[in-house]
Amino acid sequence: MKDLVFNYNGVLDYVSKKEIAAYEDKAKQALKDLIDNTGAGNDFTGWVNYPLEIQEKELQEINEVAKNIRKQSHCLVVIGIGGSYLGAKAAIEMFSPYFSNLTKNNFEIIFLGNNISAGYLEGALKYLKNVDFSVNVISKSGKTLEPALAFRFVKELMIEKYGAEYAKRVVVTTSNHHSILHEEALKEGYKEFFIPDNIGGRYSVFTAVGLLPIACMGYDVYDLIRGAINSCQDFKTLPYQENPCMQYAAIRNILYNKKYTNEIMASFDPKLTYFGEWWKQLYGESEGKDHKGVLPIVLSYSTDLHSLGQYVQDGMRNIFETFVDFAHEKTALPIKENNEDLDGLNYLAGKDVKFVKDQALKGTMEAHISGGVPAMLIQVKDNSPYTFGYLAYFFMLSCGISGYLLGVNPFNQEGVEAYKKNMYALLKK
Ligand code: PA5
Repeated sequence: MKDLVFNYNGVLDYVSKKEIAAYEDKAKQALKDLIDNTGAGNDFTGWVNYPLEIQEKELQEINEVAKNIRKQSHCLVVIGIGGSYLGAKAAIEMFSPYFSNLTKNNFEIIFLGNNISAGYLEGALKYLKNVDFSVNVISKSGKTLEPALAFRFVKELMIEKYGAEYAKRVVVTTSNHHSILHEEALKEGYKEFFIPDNIGGRYSVFTAVGLLPIACMGYDVYDLIRGAINSCQDFKTLPYQENPCMQYAAIRNILYNKKYTNEIMASFDPKLTYFGEWWKQLYGESEGKDHKGVLPIVLSYSTDLHSLGQYVQDGMRNIFETFVDFAHEKTALPIKENNEDLDGLNYLAGKDVKFVKDQALKGTMEAHISGGVPAMLIQVKDNSPYTFGYLAYFFMLSCGISGYLLGVNPFNQEGVEAYKKNMYALLKK
C-alpha cells in the first residue's frame, strides 16, 4: 500500500466530483503560495521545507542530548503548552506500547505546564521527589505563563535535589532572541536548542520541539524525518487529481461553505487520540479566525460511539467526519470457538479482533454517511515514526492550503491573547 490512502467516496452524496474539480486552481494557487512564500503569514512558513533542510548535525545533537538524559535520569519532564508539547505527546502516544508508561529501558516521560491546575502540579512535584529526572522546558516566546510557572516550581525542587548540578539536567528549547527563557539559560548554563523564527508552535513538531522528547523516549527521529521528507516531496508535486493533501483541503472548504461547520477526526485506535489533539490544535488555531473556520472535534471510537455517537448519527446535520486508520496493524488475537458459547460470540470464531474493528469502522462510516454525515477515510500503514512523519506533514501542508482557501492567515493566533490579557490584568502583572 502507499504511505497514505485517501478515500473520499463518503462525501460524494454531498459534494460532487465537479465541485471538487472546480477547486483545482484555487488549491494549486494556495499550495504555490506556501511553497513560494507569497501568502498571508509568509514569515511563518519555514516549516514547509524544514524536513528537507534540517541539518544532520542538529539530529545528531538531539540524539546525543537524549542519550545523555537517559543516562542520568529515569524520567524526562517536558514543560510546555500548545504547539510546544502536543506534537511530541501525539508521537509518543502513537509509538508507545499500551499499558506501560515505561519503555524497555525503564524511562518515562511526563508533561507539565500544559494547564494551570494546582492539584496537577502538586501531584507531579510529589511524584518527582522520588524520581531521578531531567527537564526539557519548551517555549518559543519564553514567557508563556503555564510553562514558566511549572518550571519555577520544578527548578526549586531540582535545586533541592541536585544542588548546583541541577543545571546539567535542564534543556531549554526556545527562540534565540526575545526570550527571557534564553536569557535564563545563558545565565544558568542550560543546554539549549533553538526554534527557527519562521516556524510557529503548532508547526514545530519536526524541530527540536518535537524531536528531543521523542528521541528521549528511544524512538527513531531519523525515520520520522524520512517520513516527513517523503510526504513533503509527494504532496508538493503530485497533480491535484492524485493529491490527497490538496483534495482534503478543498473538500473541507466545500463542505464548510455548505454549512458543515464541524469536523470530527475519528479513529478506532486509542494510539491516535493524542494525534487527534495535535490535529485539533493545528486546525483550530490556524483556521478559527475572522469569525470563520471549521470547528475540529476529536472522537475515539468505539468508546465515543456509546456517547457522542448518538449525536453524530442523529443530531444537527452540520458535521463531517475524517476517519484515520492504521491499515496494517500488527496484532494477532484470533477469536476461538467456545463449547458453551455463554457470551454468544461463537459467530466470531475463526475471526480476529482486528477483523471485528475493521467491520466496525466500515459499518460506522456507512451509518454516518447515510445519516447525513459526509465522511472521508485516511489510511496509513502503521504506528511507526516514519508514518507519523508522513501523516503529520500531510496534515500540516493541507492545513496551510485549507487556511488559504478559507481566506485566513493560518499562521497567527491573535485570538489567544484575549484570555491572557484578562488573566494578567486580574493577576496584576
Ligand atoms: O501554535 C502556537 O503558536 C501556540 O499554540 C504555542 O505553541 C503556545 O501558545 C505556546 O507558546 P510558547 O511556545 O511561546 O510558550
